[in-house]
Amino acid sequence: MNLDLSLLQQKFGSRLQTGVALARYTSARIGGPAQALLKAETANELAHMVTLLWELEQPFMVIGGGSNILIADAGIDELVVLNRARHVRFAGHAEPPMVWAESGANFGLLARQAAGRGLSGLEWAAGIPGTLGGAVVGNAGAFGADLSANLVMAEILHRIPTEKAGELSVAQRDQWSQENFEYGYRTSLLKQHPGAAIVLAAKLRLEHSTPQAVQARIDEHTIVRHRTQPPGASTGSMFKNPPGNHAGRLIDAAGLKGTQIGGAQISPLHGNFFINLGNASACDFQQLIRLAQATVAEKFGIELELEIQLVGKWQVEKG
Ligand code: EPU
Repeated sequence: MNLDLSLLQQKFGSRLQTGVALARYTSARIGGPAQALLKAETANELAHMVTLLWELEQPFMVIGGGSNILIADAGIDELVVLNRARHVRFAGHAEPPMVWAESGANFGLLARQAAGRGLSGLEWAAGIPGTLGGAVVGNAGAFGADLSANLVMAEILHRIPTEKAGELSVAQRDQWSQENFEYGYRTSLLKQHPGAAIVLAAKLRLEHSTPQAVQARIDEHTIVRHRTQPPGASTGSMFKNPPGNHAGRLIDAAGLKGTQIGGAQISPLHGNFFINLGNASACDFQQLIRLAQATVAEKFGIELELEIQLVGKWQVEKG
């Protein structure tokens, strides 16, 4: 369904931006324009916007840190809601200590703020680029840990089908415990059902420690990360690790590290990182993805599954 821009203008007024270049909102610095965009500055605002969009039956997608997505060169037809709800509250004296944060909070920054308060448990996340909401949906992880172990509960906004909602609201706020998410490796119930609900905020469990001890663990991870993962504009890990193997190792063994198509390159340092050398298009990335999948399948009989999500008008490039 197409967007009704005049209806959106009428409902959101000057908050509605049109024809917004999206590359700057992604970690790979890639992607065409959004037809329409709204920025949500608080979780309540996010809930109101999304409820209204559901009521108006206007298609949309929420973008947080833009780190696990690849936006098509042709851009996105749906309205983009940019999640900038970043409020964070620590309960450092609670037993166990906790942090509550809105879903647009930067997850790596949250981990470093916890370190500054001597709160342990998120050291593995200090270098993660996306938002807390993205981490909750995608079960972000590193160094053998993932978010599912920290999550106490998340505030969710569900869509209720219009026929069931009747005269009532099309949206309902809920608190989900960790079990509700049915977490797996880099996946959750919400990731498998895009559009069914959005994350407004989450509460994470931490442990008492000291700023020095927590920072020391972050520093250890940072050293490893700098040694093994490239700097520069990328989406983070391109593929999920196949069971019992590593996507980076397979792409490396296939001899593909350093391969370049247009402005996109498979990192010479790590095979599962695809770098935008400066002027890469989404199409360049797509061709590298296909090359890596085809070569690894041919050489090792393993199908690499994308960890990132392709969003926007990809069919235009497929032709
Ligand atoms: N390897 C190679 N060649 C390469 C890259 C890796 O042989 O080009 C080998 C390494 O030597 C190592 C193994 O593959 O034996 C695994 O590599 P690494 O330790 O770098 O971990 P990874 O499995 O590639 C995962 C996560 C990363 C996370 C790191 C660190 C996935 C898909 N990736 O990478 O998460 O930072 O562990 O814990 O699970 C992300 O998901 O976006 C991400 C960056």
